[in-house]
Amino acid sequence: MTIDGRTRVAGIIGWPVEHSLSPAMHNAAFAALGLNWIYAAFPVDPARVPEAVRGLAAAGCAGLNVTIPHKQAVIDCCSSVSDAVAAIGAANTLVPDGDGGFRADNTDAAGFLRALDEQAPLDLAGRDALVIGAGGAARALVFALRSRGARVRVANRTPARAAELGEAVPFVPQALETVAARSALVVNTTSLGLHGDAPPPELPLAGLGRDQVVADIVYRPGGTPWLAAVGARGARTVDGLGMLLHQGAAAFEQWTGHEAPTEVMRAALGADPPG
Ligand code: ATR
Repeated sequence: MTIDGRTRVAGIIGWPVEHSLSPAMHNAAFAALGLNWIYAAFPVDPARVPEAVRGLAAAGCAGLNVTIPHKQAVIDCCSSVSDAVAAIGAANTLVPDGDGGFRADNTDAAGFLRALDEQAPLDLAGRDALVIGAGGAARALVFALRSRGARVRVANRTPARAAELGEAVPFVPQALETVAARSALVVNTTSLGLHGDAPPPELPLAGLGRDQVVADIVYRPGGTPWLAAVGARGARTVDGLGMLLHQGAAAFEQWTGHEAPTEVMRAALGADPPG
């Protein structure tokens, strides 16, 4: 594709941002649909977020993703926020508002639900769900699971943060195993499991098995040892790439108005086709 005077520019802001997989995913999607768009990564110093968002809006940027650590800071730079952003308190997608600014949305929650529906569908209405962690990602997850009618419990190393999000569960192995064992869905949103070859001892394992769905939103090539161990015990598993893919697809659709070519985007992420 030729970059010319009509090329629309989208991108991602973060700090750091050079390891983001989003440019590969979105540029593959633009190419597949023959759209004259490009997607770039913009490293934005935390002290300069308002300048960067307003400057990109002024320059006609056609869509932005937002990653750590800017997901909260961008909200005040936008002209309006979606219901999801208002509930979650974090934004990952900015869409031109037609009036020279951006409106803020959060597609992490919808992205997680799409990944769940694709990889391990289950009816959450009236069922117990356990979210481990209470950071920005956990807030999106709690919102998503409540929207499906789940009763959400939250376990976090710092208990006060868990209590802000839902019914708190002590972050000690025995309590976690007990609550995990009676939950239809267990999700790890912490960075535990990002490193090392063995499942982290803090995460539940013995209480998990068949008839349960377990998700790890940590993304790691080849999957996390915890998810592999849980899968070996018979649980259905949902990995972090699915959420990354589907939050991106939902953003793409808002920016371009086209249905996202999810299989092209999945391949660009190096993920296996579903099923
Ligand atoms: P994100 O936006 O990705 O959720 P975050 O807001 O920094 O990132 O939240 C990180 C989460 O991982 C928190 O729940 C954090 O627990 P604390 O609230 O106690 O900080 C959790 N976390 C990170 N490292 C951890 C560790 N080594 N053990 C347990 N929890 C950890």
